[in-house]
Amino acid sequence: MVVFVLLGGVLIYAFVRISALSEDIGLLTTELASTTAALSQNADHIARNVTDLRSQTAGLSNTLSSAQQNIDAVNTKVGGVEQTVGSISGAVGSLQKLSQIDPELLKKYSKVSFLNENYLPARLVSIPKEYLYTETKPEQIIIEAWPFLNKLINAAKADGITLYVSSAYRSFGEQQSLKSLYTVVYGAGTANSFSADQGYSEHQLGTTIDLITTGIGGTLDGFDSTTSYPWLLANAYRYGFVLSYPKGNAYYVYEPWHWRFVGVKLATSLHNNGLQFYDMDQRAIDAYLINIFD
Ligand code: DAL
Ligand code: ZN
Repeated sequence: MVVFVLLGGVLIYAFVRISALSEDIGLLTTELASTTAALSQNADHIARNVTDLRSQTAGLSNTLSSAQQNIDAVNTKVGGVEQTVGSISGAVGSLQKLSQIDPELLKKYSKVSFLNENYLPARLVSIPKEYLYTETKPEQIIIEAWPFLNKLINAAKADGITLYVSSAYRSFGEQQSLKSLYTVVYGAGTANSFSADQGYSEHQLGTTIDLITTGIGGTLDGFDSTTSYPWLLANAYRYGFVLSYPKGNAYYVYEPWHWRFVGVKLATSLHNNGLQFYDMDQRAIDAYLINIFD
């Protein structure tokens, strides 16, 4: 009997415990389900946020790249404006420079262009006596061309070549007197072959010189048989001088002594291309005026 009572007690206890445990499990299961649901909701929420953030980032990146494109476009425009301003100020500088250079200096005289009796070079300087063949006969040259002639004669001297100036600037009136004298002495035909009429001589520009050397009796004739002439043919261009009247020219007799300053750039171009000043078109020559004293 006692055994049955004990067994019944144990069974009742076990039943109560199992019921309690089963209740706990039920509660836990319900809790787990609601936690899982909450977590799943949070996960969905986070996923939506991530998607939103991604699309916002993409939007921002588009905005940034179009802003960068705008900046690039503005920079390109600014660069273009700077270039335009630069080339305008360059052109203004060139015009200013050109306005200070006598436009006659590169014109073709020698029966083509004409200088009237009022034409005077702007600034002439006296050539120092030691450079003159006849010290008592003063000669002048335009001030800007003198440093070039000075260097040419000094360079020749350093190479053992003696050069003197025999004639340089001649005014309209001086050329007229000279031409009249030659016409009387030699006759008009011969005088015209070696002497320009007044207004047509390159000497009136103040850029042109006749060079002479020792050993030929103080004359211009025979200058091309001296060592001075080949030296000039090889070197004069370096100092901006060219031979105006080579053999066979269309204007005057061959004048190996008569050299005209046209600027180093033009003289070098003529030398390198085997051309003569009078072979060139006047328009092509005029392009060199701006650099004549460079
Ligand atoms: N002897 C040159 C041609 C002149 O008179 O200018
Ligand atoms: Zn001459």
